[in-house]
Amino acid sequence: MKALVLCGGSGTRLRPITHTMAKQLVPIANKPVLFYGLEAIKAAGVEDVGIVVGETAKEIIQAVGDGSKWGINVTYVQQDEPLGLAHAVMVAEPFLGDDDFVMYLGDNLIKEGITSLVEQFRQNRPNSQILLASVKEPERFGVAELASGKVVKLVEKPENPASDLALVGVYMFDGHIMEAVKAIKPSGRGELEITDAIQWLIDQGLVVDPHIIEGWWKDTGRLEDMLEANRIMLDTLEARNEGYVCSESNVVGMVVVEKGAEIVNSTVRGPAIIGEGTKIVNSFIGPFTSIYYGVEITGSEIEHSIILENSTVTDISGRIEDSLIGQNVIVERSPLKPAAYRLMLGDNSRIGIL
Ligand code: TTP
Repeated sequence: MKALVLCGGSGTRLRPITHTMAKQLVPIANKPVLFYGLEAIKAAGVEDVGIVVGETAKEIIQAVGDGSKWGINVTYVQQDEPLGLAHAVMVAEPFLGDDDFVMYLGDNLIKEGITSLVEQFRQNRPNSQILLASVKEPERFGVAELASGKVVKLVEKPENPASDLALVGVYMFDGHIMEAVKAIKPSGRGELEITDAIQWLIDQGLVVDPHIIEGWWKDTGRLEDMLEANRIMLDTLEARNEGYVCSESNVVGMVVVEKGAEIVNSTVRGPAIIGEGTKIVNSFIGPFTSIYYGVEITGSEIEHSIILENSTVTDISGRIEDSLIGQNVIVERSPLKPAAYRLMLGDNSRIGIL
């Protein structure tokens, strides 16, 4: 059994963050989202892992290396253009051959992991098995229709969903999928869709089993989902202090203070994580906030947000909430007269001003 982890794509929904970084490397509770997936794959006993990379190949390779940190062997597969999930399978043929594999979308988080899915597939040996979860708005997802315990139809974003079971970003396949991805045609949006490839398997009379999960999962492709994933993963951590908290500071609830972090004359109310070498001075950090490494927060209030490395936030009077602040960003009071907003924002940025 192999694993294929998809880390290409264009990440349009997370711009401008994805102009400069891979969305699979955005940290959730200070750990890149992709790392949770690699841990889940290893925990399921799969060690031969192909990672499909696109434009952000260099960064992904730098972050994951040969995979030895997780006890896995990583092979990189270059996908020159993000032409769809089924296209990613096709370009990975030299790595996959006709072996069984688990396909995992690199920006997805599945709290309970994938061990039970992989075990069930190994036991029952269907041609494919897809991870499904009951959702509130099935019309936003790929939806599966079941009959007699099998998947009989898949529809991408249906107007009138036949069930509330949405496809979660993990799929099991045997060698037949390689025929399927070669047989299908691009969809209206010009991509080779994995739902079409699975539908092709069904239409050939091959067996596609469902595996319904009860637990929490998230596709972190949008800001709102990333903040929610951060909120839930922070709740799974245990408090620890490996940095410095001065006696005037107040640290309440589940707070992780990483190595070399300093909290001076500030309140941090958990769950929150303060990254390596980060300085919080005269500030308030509220619940569900992850601050990555090398950040400086001075005279400001931040809650329910993710702040990436080496950014600074200085003397902001209103509270910052529901925000994702990228790398090396400076948010400060405008020092010059006349008083005015002075902005340098990347393409597709979004700001909310009081
Ligand atoms: P998506 O989030 O569906 O697509 P995307 O990354 O292009 O993002 P957006 O819709 O915001 O533009 O992709 C799911 C995962 O699969 C993600 O980790 C990227 C990866 N992927 C590939 O590796 N190759 C591809 O051709 C596509 C479409 C996605």
